[in-house]
Amino acid sequence: MTYERYGQQPLDAYARSLELQENAIEEIPEAASSNYRGKTSYAPYPMIYMEEGEGVTITDVDGNEYIDFHCGVSSIINGHNPEQQLSVVREQLDRGAYFATTYELEAETASLVNDLVPGSDRTKFISTGTEAVMTAMRLARAYTGKDKILKFEGMYHGHTDYALMNYHPPTEALGTRRNPNTIPDANGIPRKTLETVESIPWNDIDLLEEKLDREGDEIAAVITEATLSNSGLLWPEDDYLDRLRELTREHDVLFILDEVVTGFRIALGGAQEYFDIEPDLAIYGKSLANGYPCAAVTGREEVMEFIGTGSDEATFMGTFSGHPMAVAATKGNLELLADRDDDAYERLRARGETLVSGLRDILADAGYNALVPDFAGFTYVHFCDEDSNPEEWTEWRDVDGNIDIEMYERFASEVIGEGVFFPPKFGRINLTHEHTDEHIEAALEASKTAAQRL
Ligand SMILES: Cc1ncc(COP(=O)(O)O)c(C=O)c1O
Repeated sequence: MTYERYGQQPLDAYARSLELQENAIEEIPEAASSNYRGKTSYAPYPMIYMEEGEGVTITDVDGNEYIDFHCGVSSIINGHNPEQQLSVVREQLDRGAYFATTYELEAETASLVNDLVPGSDRTKFISTGTEAVMTAMRLARAYTGKDKILKFEGMYHGHTDYALMNYHPPTEALGTRRNPNTIPDANGIPRKTLETVESIPWNDIDLLEEKLDREGDEIAAVITEATLSNSGLLWPEDDYLDRLRELTREHDVLFILDEVVTGFRIALGGAQEYFDIEPDLAIYGKSLANGYPCAAVTGREEVMEFIGTGSDEATFMGTFSGHPMAVAATKGNLELLADRDDDAYERLRARGETLVSGLRDILADAGYNALVPDFAGFTYVHFCDEDSNPEEWTEWRDVDGNIDIEMYERFASEVIGEGVFFPPKFGRINLTHEHTDEHIEAALEASKTAAQRL
């Protein structure tokens, strides 16, 4: 295979990564377990094999150091390997892996989540955001006795068959706004499954109202994120989330808030705190455990208590759901977040705003029509078509076809070559509580160099 260079770095600087990648291609489809970190995500650049991280510095197998802004696809919020989290993990590690019984830490950690998340009376742990979404959807169906789930175009809710549709569909295939076609984002999803989930454009309250008026008696739940976080970070229109709450309540439809990205990132209490909204169920992952595989379904007591073994209730299982190691990581992480001073999230946001405004200036000075969205614990860099006006974008159909993803990837490769790890593929640029003003300055310096070289 032939590879492009990261910025001005010779390919030799990644010699060990290249060797490992060539070997992995023979063993793992896409050379990594998740396609997101696989060879296509990096191509035409080499996959970088990271070896260790401390705070916000990560080091690859060739000894190259980077300031990390990829942050475990938004899962690192307290920096890498914070001692306070590690000590809880270590203590659990020494006790043995798993005994198929519950254990003291499980309810203690659920109690921490219930204290920190505004609308959470009860919490169940599971391993991934995907499974948490799947569980919340089943719970909503069981609780309401209705089958259909309504999601929004451009929203990603994990890779289950019940959610991987109309995530990044081509707009021309979607059809009308009122009755869009359902387009799977992967091959192999049964047609019958696609019939159980419908999507409409996000951020259009009239459309939602009309849909619920027409079909509310068939819809068990509306699932949404508070921001459109996987399609370029668009913010909700004023009142959109409040109206969504009111409308779902009026139609006896559950409101599932997917906080896998926003949870413990946009604020300590996630989007529920930041936007002051009260979903019936909410889903957490990523920053919940600062890089470890733990996710959670939380919500109102009345709905959560419908998880049970009775004939009407929804079953919830999984050998490794709430695994002691993952829960210990969650406990250590949440305790560390709770111990931070009251201004920690304000400081994180202020640094994010400095990053955002710096990136905007750099890209405007270099002559690009770029969108760097307002900070939500993360942002993006979009190179937009000359004639598009990204300030007016509100939904996936606006984004689709109007950003130059290849240009972003070239930009990111230049930034990475300067020792700043932006997501190599279209993705979120994140901060943690451990990023300092100096790290932001370094990222801006690298971005300036990259923008000039493009
Ligand atoms: C909003 C959202 N929901 C759900 C998921 C699925 O989480 P996981 O990758 O842990 O299965 C993701 C993953 O990126 C996500 O961004």
